[in-house]
Amino acid sequence: MLNSQSFVVWGDFLRASLLGFVLGFNILLSPLSLGAIRVEQVEAWAQSHPTAQVEDFLSWVKSTDPEQMAWFTLMRKSESAQGATPLNPRAIVFGPESKFVFTFNGEDKEAGYQEVEMLFFRQEPKPQWELRKLSFNSQNKKVSFSGPNPNSCLACHQNPVRPIWSQYDTWKGAYGEFDDSIVDHGDKKEFLQFNKFLKNKETHSRYSKLQFPEGSIVSPYSEEPKGGNYRLRPNAALTDSLLKLHAKVLVARLKEHPEFETEKMFLTASLLGCEALLTGDDFEKKILFGLLAKRFKKFYRGSISWGDKGSVGANSNKQAMLYLLGLEHSDFSIEKEPTRWSYFSGNFFFEEYLAIELYDELSQLDCQIPSFQCFSNYGHTVILPIGTEKDTLDILDACDYLFSSRMTSGPIEANGPKPISNPIVTCLGCHQKDGTAPYIPFDDKERLLSDKILKDLILSKITSKDKNFRMPPTRPLSEKEILGIREWLSN
Ligand code: HEC
Ligand code: HEC
Repeated sequence: MLNSQSFVVWGDFLRASLLGFVLGFNILLSPLSLGAIRVEQVEAWAQSHPTAQVEDFLSWVKSTDPEQMAWFTLMRKSESAQGATPLNPRAIVFGPESKFVFTFNGEDKEAGYQEVEMLFFRQEPKPQWELRKLSFNSQNKKVSFSGPNPNSCLACHQNPVRPIWSQYDTWKGAYGEFDDSIVDHGDKKEFLQFNKFLKNKETHSRYSKLQFPEGSIVSPYSEEPKGGNYRLRPNAALTDSLLKLHAKVLVARLKEHPEFETEKMFLTASLLGCEALLTGDDFEKKILFGLLAKRFKKFYRGSISWGDKGSVGANSNKQAMLYLLGLEHSDFSIEKEPTRWSYFSGNFFFEEYLAIELYDELSQLDCQIPSFQCFSNYGHTVILPIGTEKDTLDILDACDYLFSSRMTSGPIEANGPKPISNPIVTCLGCHQKDGTAPYIPFDDKERLLSDKILKDLILSKITSKDKNFRMPPTRPLSEKEILGIREWLSN
């Protein structure tokens, strides 16, 4: 019944050949890294260094985890709250794995000059992202460390928070903007600006603390287009390592959905590309497809229609399954404003990462799950569950095992994305008393609900597609956030 041995069948060979080196290199890297700096360490440092400056923080990071300072990219323009110019770019420092990412810029006229913005990946109590702000002050010399996920960050980083970074192979505003290369016969302006920056950074109190990798005159970027050295591909490395961790975060969220138990096997099969391995008019295939088509129709909605989300396998149920299990487009995309191409983040390994994480998760719950070996879309061997040493089977056996669950259980009503429980913290970031926007009584619900005009205005603003009218102005809300605000306003 099953006819091929390939893992995920997208067939984007050009991309595969460009990026085939990436995963292999990462496997080499992981054992070398000592472990990223954790929130608690930064908190302790901030408390014990109340009069420190940003430069002191950078020196501390460098001595605590030298590898951290050796992986970074530089924004010459930024859509974030922190300023960036070609000569004083916003540095995004992410270490070998992006478990700790922080940013700073280089000129006192720029917004956020006295701030270091941070993103931590937390494994406990469940895999999740956490944003923090470390603020310095040259006058009263007082370092302060924010609590987790300040409301002001949610205006752009979504709720629940996620990283913001573009997809391979264009990172707007970053140096190495196209494909991580800076060449003098390419974007001349970028080349000249970067060289000016390089000259300046030698004596700069902050940028001089960065560790520029060797092997390129435009380090950390490649001097050739399509450079084959991953070490000189910081923009791609950041996309890749963020997505790898984001897969863990999404699996944790999937597990919280009430339908996860019922659908986890079929979802995993779908992400592994099992449907494509079934032959044409297979009886079982018809059952699988008929089943899902009916249920998916009901949930075929959302801010960007699911039929319009970049390259997805035509004969796969994965989007339907993920949507039924509460995830939506903006959960996969880590772009500020998801586009149709950012579905599954442009396929930059993300589906594989998700499949690998899920299979691992299943193996912890089910000791009978087969161990199998196959080739990934990028041509390297994958053995699942991770760490398996015993003999492995073929992927087809794994598919059979996973599909068997679906054959026996009938259709079940699933509910799709659920409203989030703390939807208005995003609005508070600007609309609280002393905020940057007019005060709206989100903190006085009774008063707000008695103002019918305001209530209707909010309802129309949160769903508007007009960038000059919608709220928040910085990004479209996810479906879960809209549902959450509706629910909050209705009781
Ligand atoms: C106005 C929108 C906006 C706000 C508000 C915002 N960010 Fe960001 N953030 C971005 C964008 C856009 C990026 C992508 C890189 C860039 O353009 O500089 C980003 C990137 C980051 C990164 C690098 C890792 C990543 O996600 O790519 C960190 C760390 C970060 N932000 C932390 C924060 C923190 C902490 C806050 C709140 C104090 C915050 N941000 C508020 C827009 C914003
Ligand atoms: C990044 C800051 C920011 C965030 C976050 C934000 N707003 Fe606003 N909001 C503004 C600004 C600035 C204005 C005033 C200018 C305007 O009307 O566009 C405004 C205006 C409004 C108004 C019109 C108020 C009036 O009296 O005319 C409403 C209603 C509103 N916002 C609702 C929301 C809701 C609901 C959220 C959360 C989903 C939200 N806003 C998040 C900045 C923000």
